[in-house]
Amino acid sequence: MKAGEKLDMLVGLGNGFNPEKSGDKPLLIGGGVGIPPLYNLCKELLKMGKTPTVILGFNKKEEIFYEDAFKQLGAKVIVTTVDGSYGVKGFVTDAMDIEYSYFFTCGPMPMFKAIEKKAITSGQYSFEERMGCGFGACMGCSCKTKYGNKRICKDGPVLYREEIVW
Ligand code: FES
Repeated sequence: MKAGEKLDMLVGLGNGFNPEKSGDKPLLIGGGVGIPPLYNLCKELLKMGKTPTVILGFNKKEEIFYEDAFKQLGAKVIVTTVDGSYGVKGFVTDAMDIEYSYFFTCGPMPMFKAIEKKAITSGQYSFEERMGCGFGACMGCSCKTKYGNKRICKDGPVLYREEIVW
């Protein structure tokens, strides 16, 4: 698009990550398109005086993005690649054997399920779901939680580890 062109869009929907009570050493785990949503969270955590570590997962070296952006913020960054062409060989979970006080994650469901098996603290997951209306009216994105059904578009996309039914 060109500067000055107009977009028709709905923004600011749903909740976001809650950085409170994440301890001194939060861990941010992003896979693919789930990485950008962690950027502002990382900024926020640094502003709060915390020491975040960021794990970024990719398939191969050519796909890597935002590594420098997170480093420039002042976060410790670990990159994983499935084919081992850069950083730690394997999945994000292969880099999780470090000390952390809490975790935040955004990425694909298989990554979430692997993190759920490996994680040793509380945390928050930012979900993706097929959506109809996008603002809470159609129930199309509804999912089961321990506290009843929740709409990913309005009550989410961030859910707490403790409430998720896998
Ligand atoms: S997409 Fe309609 S309620 Fe979420």
